[in-house]
Amino acid sequence: MAKNYIIVGAGGLARELYHNLREKAARLTPPGGTPVECLGFLDDVKTEMPPGYPPIVGTVCGHEPRADRDYILGVGIPEIRRRVALLFRGRENLCPAWHWLWDDETLARRGIAVGAGSLIEQGQISCDAAIGRFALISGTVGHDAQIGDYVEIAPGAAVSGGAVLEEGVQMGACSTVAPGVRVGAWSKISAGSAVMKDVPPCSFVVGVPGEIHKDFFLPPDEK
Ligand SMILES: CC(C)(COP(=O)(O)OP(=O)(O)OC[C@H]1O[C@@H](n2cnc3c(N)ncnc32)[C@H](O)[C@@H]1OP(=O)(O)O)[C@@H](O)C(=O)NCCC(=O)NCCS
Repeated sequence: MAKNYIIVGAGGLARELYHNLREKAARLTPPGGTPVECLGFLDDVKTEMPPGYPPIVGTVCGHEPRADRDYILGVGIPEIRRRVALLFRGRENLCPAWHWLWDDETLARRGIAVGAGSLIEQGQISCDAAIGRFALISGTVGHDAQIGDYVEIAPGAAVSGGAVLEEGVQMGACSTVAPGVRVGAWSKISAGSAVMKDVPPCSFVVGVPGEIHKDFFLPPDEK
């Protein structure tokens, strides 16, 4: 990131991101330089942050994005990530992709493409994988995997090599998708479940091996 930034959201993920971004900025700043810093948080419900954090500087819905700032999505649920991303339609350049571990050169060398607004927050990515826009990766992504826009991969979750998560998939904590398996758009994989075969869009998968518990999740446009 090159500019001072605002975090969209003010919950636990937003606070965790604040610390991670701050520590990485400090690491990357040459001696005597000024690290980029967090100007505050946007939230539609909360008006105050706990002591020690930058303030809430406005609401998400009422905020007019400014070109002299970067914006980081500090919300996890795919439907909400998509709704926030729509506020930046045509201005996605204000939402840089961000990765905790590596720099851009290392990602490119490993054949990993990361779309605008996506965060590789913790966890690990193998190689030759494609991450869409506004995804949130906190788990493990195997080689040659394809991760769609707005996907959330929660801590401890693992996407095996060659697996495909279509747009808006939510993987709960410590869930798994087996190698080469395709998970249909806006599906929800509950915590600890293992998806062993392809599932259609809008599936709700539970258990090991994963079974489709119900399939009436509607894609966000239809809500
Ligand atoms: C996917 C998820 C969000 C769905 O939540 P929901 O729509 O509120 O679903 P419910 O809690 O009503 O559960 C629906 C059914 O699935 C079952 N179920 C839910 N999660 C389950 C799990 N992880 N393993 C087994 N069964 C599960 C419930 O027992 C319930 O069964 P029933 O209909 O027979 O009573 C939720 O199951 C989940 O996994 N949340 C974890 C998300 C997560 O890991 N976030 C990490 C952020 S850091």
